[in-house]
Amino acid sequence: MTDVEIKKGLAGVTVDYTAVSKVNPETNSLLYRGYPVQELAATQPFEAVAYLLWNGELPTDEQLASLRAEERKHRALADNVKAAIDLLPLEAHPMDEVRTAVSVIGASDSSGSGSVLDAAGSPEENLARSIRLYASLPAIVAYGQRRRRGQEIVPPRDDLDYAANFLWMTFGEEAEPVVVDAFNRSMTLYAEHSFNASTFTARVITSTLSDLYSAVVGAIGALKGPLHGGANEAVLHIFNEIGSAENVVPWLDKALAEKRKIMGFGHRVYKRGDSRVPTMKTALDTLIEHYDRPDVAALYDALESEFVSRKGIYPNLDYPSGPAYNLIGFDTLTFTPLFIASRVTGWTAHIMEQTASNALIRPLSAYNGPDERHIDGYVPDAAHL
Ligand code: SDX
Repeated sequence: MTDVEIKKGLAGVTVDYTAVSKVNPETNSLLYRGYPVQELAATQPFEAVAYLLWNGELPTDEQLASLRAEERKHRALADNVKAAIDLLPLEAHPMDEVRTAVSVIGASDSSGSGSVLDAAGSPEENLARSIRLYASLPAIVAYGQRRRRGQEIVPPRDDLDYAANFLWMTFGEEAEPVVVDAFNRSMTLYAEHSFNASTFTARVITSTLSDLYSAVVGAIGALKGPLHGGANEAVLHIFNEIGSAENVVPWLDKALAEKRKIMGFGHRVYKRGDSRVPTMKTALDTLIEHYDRPDVAALYDALESEFVSRKGIYPNLDYPSGPAYNLIGFDTLTFTPLFIASRVTGWTAHIMEQTASNALIRPLSAYNGPDERHIDGYVPDAAHL
């Protein structure tokens, strides 16, 4: 076997440039188009962050107003999307519901020529498609949760901006400003993270000149896994297993003895803590105070300190966001679809960047199968060829 250096999982491999975001584990920082994510989360509505990721600059008041007006055109759940979701069993995972919904939106979009030769779409078409998906996802995610709860659809409200309307459509009541602010911050923090598995999946699909919707559907499939986006849902399963802070030590003893991965901890790039965690933890702390849930704080802190002291592995963004979404009232199964609603902005920014670079992504592999051999003499199955 020739001696080649295999980089399992492409760990540590730099495969291309991107101007969308910079993840720096040395300084534990994350920049969206040059802006620290902490500043964006603290000062910008998610709409402005979406605009920044797509266009490279923060919007003027007029540009933000125009994006908000366009978003409002696509907020209502489309009939064909609702019909497709209704075909799925109630037990279907919400990530499969959202993946199906995006497929329906893509298959119904006649904005392109329809020819496979034009699948990639023009920059203008893809920006319009990106805005449409970003605007459509809240209704899809909200409907999924309400459907499972046996509740009727809540129509969107044009007097509410993105985060407040998302919560309105999900819960059928107007959320308090402190909750809207915490949710808005989470959407900004989840929006973009360079070549993570789901974004890179979207780029691979785009690199064949396939269409934006196919790339987003593939990215949703990648995000579903508990090693990636599915971790925020898995964090709540862990919290429910442990129950209370007093049970952390025995629970962790058993989990580590079984060599379980403790969801919400660790990261392929950050090795001394995820740059987004402090901002999301602050949002969680405001929610803990707002809902008067010191028990959540006790469990959160006990598990973090115990696991970090034993393994030296730090929380990632999914660790604070899971309990935050739980306090707001989202079903645990809805958590990762919330990740989609946010990350669709980062995915589509990368899809547009990859389309412009137009370089097919096709790595090499090292063969370790049987040496070359040949069919000698009679082979029974060949008789019918
Ligand atoms: C996201 O890439 C991104 O940017 C992703 C993301 C984004 O915004 O897009 O940040 C979002 O996906 C965050 C990560 C969410 N996933 C989880 O919380 C799942 C739990 N975490 C682990 O599975 C793990 O930390 C990974 C997959 C996230 C990263 O793993 P690496 O870099 O491949 O490291 P590794 O799995 O090789 O771990 C090194 C060692 C191993 O021990 P040994 O086998 O060498 O003895 O650390 C151990 C691992 O077992 N380890 C863990 C652990 N994370 C690492 N052990 C227990 N629990 C963990 N969480």
